[in-house]
Amino acid sequence: MSINFKPLNTAVGLAAEVSGVDLSQPMAYEDFLPIRDGLDEYGVLVFHDQDLDDDSQIAFSRHFGPLESSIRRHRPRSVASAEISDISNVAPDGSIFPIDGEHMSYNLGNQLWHSDSSFKATPALASLLYAREVVPEGGGTEFADQRGAWDGLTPDMQGRIDGMVARHSLAHSRAAMGYDADQEFMDVEKAEVPPVPQALVQTNARTGRRALYAGAHVFCIDGLERQESDDLLAELREQATQPGLQYHHQWQVGDLVIWDNRATLHRGQPFDNSHRRVMRRTTVAGDGPTA
Ligand code: OGA
Ligand code: MN
Repeated sequence: MSINFKPLNTAVGLAAEVSGVDLSQPMAYEDFLPIRDGLDEYGVLVFHDQDLDDDSQIAFSRHFGPLESSIRRHRPRSVASAEISDISNVAPDGSIFPIDGEHMSYNLGNQLWHSDSSFKATPALASLLYAREVVPEGGGTEFADQRGAWDGLTPDMQGRIDGMVARHSLAHSRAAMGYDADQEFMDVEKAEVPPVPQALVQTNARTGRRALYAGAHVFCIDGLERQESDDLLAELREQATQPGLQYHHQWQVGDLVIWDNRATLHRGQPFDNSHRRVMRRTTVAGDGPTA
């Protein structure tokens, strides 16, 4: 196997296009290791022309570690496996979900800068998103390098926030886009995602690189007054999402994009919901709470 990495945002060292790998085939662990190391280095990996079904996507994803179950698994869905998140606008009967219905209203939360599952007690390490059907225009996914965001803070600010703990909640971030979790969540979903604490700064255990961790699920910082917490979060988020820290992915059918949720934030771009957009996500669980 001759694997090749082509950096995409060379200014900040975020994202690389990876060639020379067929992800649908079983892979030896030694062949997987360069991919893991590449994700540590670049934060986002882009693979083109991959031919994956749910089973092969799950099998490859498991090299990174155990997978999460989708919080939406209790609802009628187009996918059979609990380990697949259905990030699409197509209903089980093949029709396009109405833009003002529960499903699309929930998905709208993906358009805020976030880190997947930071609202779970054990937040996600990596996500793998595979494009089956793409829209002709818009509907891209943007990434922002949170290591670069941390590196760019003043030493004073780094000293101030290092060791701080933030509270994350899915109901909070969904509410910001008009979704009423109190009303819409099933009881079993509510029970699964109470607010949780996470470290405001993450450290990659293999590289030692530090990263800001303050996406849309964060609603406050422990130990600060409300106003001080809001002001600090606003300042950090501006730092976190500077255009220079970003890579913008425009999807093609067969793309698999992997991102490190502890090193990057991402958000989906709007698109015209009269077109089908079918994406499947697997999510690698972390090894425990971060605070
Ligand atoms: C996700 C996500 C954005 C998009 O799948 O986790 O945030 O562009 N997706 O679909
Ligand atoms: Mn996401």
